Amino acid sequence: MNKLIKNGIVVTASDVQRADVAIENGVVTAVGQNLPDNGAEIVDADGCYVFPGGVDPHTHLDMPFGGTVTIDDFESGTIGFAAGGTTTIVDFCMHEKGKSLQHSLDIWHEKARGKAVIDYGFHMMVGDLRDEILDEIPKLVEEQGVSSFKVFMAYKNNLQAEDKTLFRVLQRAKAAKALVQVHAENGDVIDALVEDALASGNVEPVYHALTRPPEAEGEATARAIELARLAGAPIYIVHVTCREAVEAISRARRRGQPVFGETCEQYLVCDHTDYERPGFEGAKYVMSPPIREKSHQEALWNGLFNGDLMVLGSDQCSFNFKGQKELGKEDFSKIPNGGPTGEERMGILYEYGVVQGRIGLSKFVDLTSTTAAKLFGLFPKKGTIAVGSDADIVIWDPNVERTISAATQYLKCDYSLFEGFKVHGKARDVLLRGEYVFQNNEFVGAPGTGEYVPQKPFEYK
Ligand code: URP
Ligand code: ZN
Ligand code: ZN
Ligand code: ZN
Repeated sequence: MNKLIKNGIVVTASDVQRADVAIENGVVTAVGQNLPDNGAEIVDADGCYVFPGGVDPHTHLDMPFGGTVTIDDFESGTIGFAAGGTTTIVDFCMHEKGKSLQHSLDIWHEKARGKAVIDYGFHMMVGDLRDEILDEIPKLVEEQGVSSFKVFMAYKNNLQAEDKTLFRVLQRAKAAKALVQVHAENGDVIDALVEDALASGNVEPVYHALTRPPEAEGEATARAIELARLAGAPIYIVHVTCREAVEAISRARRRGQPVFGETCEQYLVCDHTDYERPGFEGAKYVMSPPIREKSHQEALWNGLFNGDLMVLGSDQCSFNFKGQKELGKEDFSKIPNGGPTGEERMGILYEYGVVQGRIGLSKFVDLTSTTAAKLFGLFPKKGTIAVGSDADIVIWDPNVERTISAATQYLKCDYSLFEGFKVHGKARDVLLRGEYVFQNNEFVGAPGTGEYVPQKPFEYK
């Protein structure tokens, strides 16, 4: 049914204005004042902001990792994302070394089909260097709508690729008009530090952080950037957590190199002391790179403010505390890495960014939606509210005050990283291509209504 959103304040990455938004057949047909209703259903957004649906470009749903599989799949995971205002995700398709990229992509399509309640695209991880694999890169860009490729510089003996692989992927991706993403930590050094810790009997969760120091992230970030410079290719650094990495990105950008940085909300608000929680609770915060000392948060906020960090991803990768995180009770290196972060990505940035005065509303939209859509070939279909764009829209009530808790989250995961946080603002209504996924804070969507959105080739300037 056609809809007319009235009385709200429409926020895009460039404007904040009181306006109506007309929706027909799933797309925005007009943005302006006093639009006629033409028999459309009226959606009253009085007192609310009208944001483009969030685009989260860093998610891991139904992913086998650390000897188990993430508890949230494409159904529970995307319901959680939608609850928080995100209407598109780009999930990481994990390449099984030895198999073709297409094989892994087919598996990921199967995981999402019939389950997702919001739209989704895929990045493709590249794990090995066979010629056939590299030859698949242009095919995926041209025929499969995948124009972003991920290389891991960490997780030794598992996902980690050699520098040569990264370099080759950079060369091939550049030629194919694709963007390379890296998980930048020095996996070899981390492997040595983990060996040392375990040999000394240091097995508690805090040693996860102590064996993955910021220097290991800074070094890998700088190395990845230099390899990209050598290849003449753009590069995107996922989940930046520390001053050292922000500085490497900043230096490159100051000399005009196309380097794009992403951080995640947990790195802005959690800190190293969370690893020292009693009763193995620190395991909830075990993710890579680790949560840092509080002093790093200022560098991240500054990076978001000045553009060195351009995107807020969630790195949603949830494992239950009971039964999954507990796999590492006797050995921190066996704790599955990752946390339930997708649902509160926008909520945390809204509170700690907008409400606390660190960023404005347009910047909030840019960081949570617009730039990710641009970098990953989804703009202007996704990432904005403009004539012709998909009517993926969040009606955000800034007056709500709420306390985040696992008890009320939609994600299946049995804990929240942000338990007890008091925040303002909430996605009241969430529309995907003009249809409600959440209406008046109630889930009204249906598994399978989310569609695959192919990425266009990379062309961000
Ligand atoms: O700990 C994390 N971040 N788990 C997900 C995989 C990754 O490295 O992004
Ligand atoms: Zn990673
Ligand atoms: Zn990740
Ligand atoms: Zn208040």
